[in-house]
Amino acid sequence: MNIIELDDVWKIYKMGEVEVPALRGLSLKVKPGEFLAVMGPSGSGKSTAMNMIGCLDIPTKGKVLLEGQNISSLNERELSRIRGRKIGFVFQSHNLYPTLNALENVQLPMRIHELREEDIWDRSEELLELVGLSERGHHYPSQLSGGQSQRVAIARALSTDPSLILADEPTGNLDTEAGKEILDIFSNLNARGVTVVMITHDEKIAARANQIVRMVDGKLAA
Ligand SMILES: Nc1ncnc2c1ncn2[C@@H]1O[C@H](COP(=O)(O)OP(=O)(O)O)[C@@H](O)[C@H]1O
Ligand SMILES: [Mg+2]
Repeated sequence: MNIIELDDVWKIYKMGEVEVPALRGLSLKVKPGEFLAVMGPSGSGKSTAMNMIGCLDIPTKGKVLLEGQNISSLNERELSRIRGRKIGFVFQSHNLYPTLNALENVQLPMRIHELREEDIWDRSEELLELVGLSERGHHYPSQLSGGQSQRVAIARALSTDPSLILADEPTGNLDTEAGKEILDIFSNLNARGVTVVMITHDEKIAARANQIVRMVDGKLAA
């Protein structure tokens, strides 16, 4: 079974009278364990596609299946449940809470899911170690570099043990070296069986994935 399947997906944003077609018949299949890079010019619908895959929004038309389940028919509560259980998000900006230290940022999703306090501490320490930041747990975002903050954001995305990581230009704000460290983390996760879908502008970064698709005008390039 595919972990992700998009079948002739359309997304039309309505801006008052104006209709903006962001996706125009996008079809895509992703197998479990894949590391997929999504490329394409700005405005080609990459982020919109990721929002559909990530259950942040539903299509205007067409089918989005996650592990075989059609998400188009689900309500907000059900969508949020799937997001929380299956999907880890990493965005271009890390979106860490400035008033929480690195450990507390990683712990937050687990607190929302009401995991056991002991497990929350064990897992958050384990995850910071995984991203190479075990020494930085008590640092606040303002005390971390951009690359370190992004690594905390990845640890946070992993805290609920997702089977799928969705990353929208995760290295977009980083220098080459910091970007490479982020990619190494994604590669390691992928080697452990996590499916990774990463949007990027950068051919060199995309080359680290095991499959590349290109979008143009809301669908895959021919
Ligand atoms: N919330 C929105 N409301 C209206 N138009 C949008 C919205 N989000 C994206 N768009 C439009 O949809 C198209 C695709 O955008 P997007 O998916 O962000 O592309 P990309 O990530 O490839 O740059 C663009 O024309 C964009 O302006
Ligand atoms: Mg985008």
